[in-house]
Amino acid sequence: MRILRVEGGRRLCGQIRVGCAKNAVLPMLAASLLAGGPVRLSDAPDISDVEHMLEILRMLGCCAAREEGELRIDPSGLKEEALPDRLAKKLRSSIFLLGPMLGRLRRAVVTYPGGCDIGLRPIDLHLQGLRALGVRIDERNGQIVCDGRAMHGGTVHFDYPSVGATENVMMAAVLTPGRTVVHNAAREPEILDLQRFINAMGGNVQGAGTHTVVIDGVRRLQGVQYRAMPDRIVAGTLLEALAITGGEGAVLGVDAQDLTAVIAKLREMGCRIQESQDRIDLCAPSRLKAFAHLQTSPHPGFPTDMQAQTMALATVAEGSSVIMENVFENRFTHVPEFGRMGADILVSGRMAVVRGVPALHGARVTAHDLRGGAALVLAGLCARGETEVEGVALIDRGYACLEGQLAALGASIARVDVES
Ligand code: UD1
Repeated sequence: MRILRVEGGRRLCGQIRVGCAKNAVLPMLAASLLAGGPVRLSDAPDISDVEHMLEILRMLGCCAAREEGELRIDPSGLKEEALPDRLAKKLRSSIFLLGPMLGRLRRAVVTYPGGCDIGLRPIDLHLQGLRALGVRIDERNGQIVCDGRAMHGGTVHFDYPSVGATENVMMAAVLTPGRTVVHNAAREPEILDLQRFINAMGGNVQGAGTHTVVIDGVRRLQGVQYRAMPDRIVAGTLLEALAITGGEGAVLGVDAQDLTAVIAKLREMGCRIQESQDRIDLCAPSRLKAFAHLQTSPHPGFPTDMQAQTMALATVAEGSSVIMENVFENRFTHVPEFGRMGADILVSGRMAVVRGVPALHGARVTAHDLRGGAALVLAGLCARGETEVEGVALIDRGYACLEGQLAALGASIARVDVES
């Protein structure tokens, strides 16, 4: 079994550059199915979620590979209309393929998707959006059979601004005749990046990043070479790694505008931060202060993908912090693991009250989801003694060699094989 072994107590310092965002690249890989020529995504992160998506694209008949640091997808061979079960179950983002497959083939069959076990994660909004575009959907034996022969532009009004459902409808509508309008769309920066990507292929999408996205169907898209936006969640995780060790340094290649909620929380905890368009500098106090209240919510609110890591900071801050997880209903699986390290946390439903302790101690802990796993590593960085984090495969879904990035900042951390 692979674990990450962290020797706590080192103050992290230095500069580090972040790569392209997982949550931008995954929908772009799906949208590549719509292209009339080859698509090249440069500097795509070397993470297992991307590898799984490439594998799915290949099983659908596309050429999809990583070559010379870029992802190359030739969608001309797309023939399969059914997503392979085994892979779709591994990857929640496989649901994104529904929209582009309908756009290209006017038919798609998928099973219910998998992904991190952080809540029920239904797909009703995805299906609602597609129905508004005239897709006929039958759900039988755990399969979702979609018939898009009568697809047309339509108006969608989401009750909740789901990131994936917004992206799925955008992709389904690009090659669909007429105008599609999405009201109460999600406003995450990755959605704006998807719009840029689609328009670079010759699509006509406007309004991403606001509550209303308008897609005018075009007849054809061409291939493109594109570089996705930087990963704001990896950037936030690295900033918090500096912060939890009382460190000082900078994260390069990220736009501070995409991380305003996280930066505000770190300032509340006593960090000095300088923001610019291409880098964020942070200088942490020797002991962090608790924050009054943190609530996760859709962008530009505090990202749920930074909740667990920020809780790690709160466990050793001076005072008590309250965290409300409003986006996913089961995203506190890191709490009992922090408990093994001496943290004092009380959970009631979606609320966690974290009473900061002077120090954590090392322990053997288990990652139950991607960001929760990263949070345990952060806790290990400041704990006394040695922390061993199991469940590394979950961390590898979204971080390209997290241990290498932290070691570059001075952490004592290694991936080791141990007997299970
Ligand atoms: C995306 C991100 C994920 C992030 C999340 C919220 C990608 C690949 N993943 O996930 O990292 O944590 O946004 O910022 O971009 N919901 C429904 N019905 C639906 C769809 C969603 O009820 O049809 C609910 C979900 O159960 C969840 C909430 O809406 O409680 C948010 O989900 P959504 O915004 O769709 O997240 P994802 O696109 O899955």
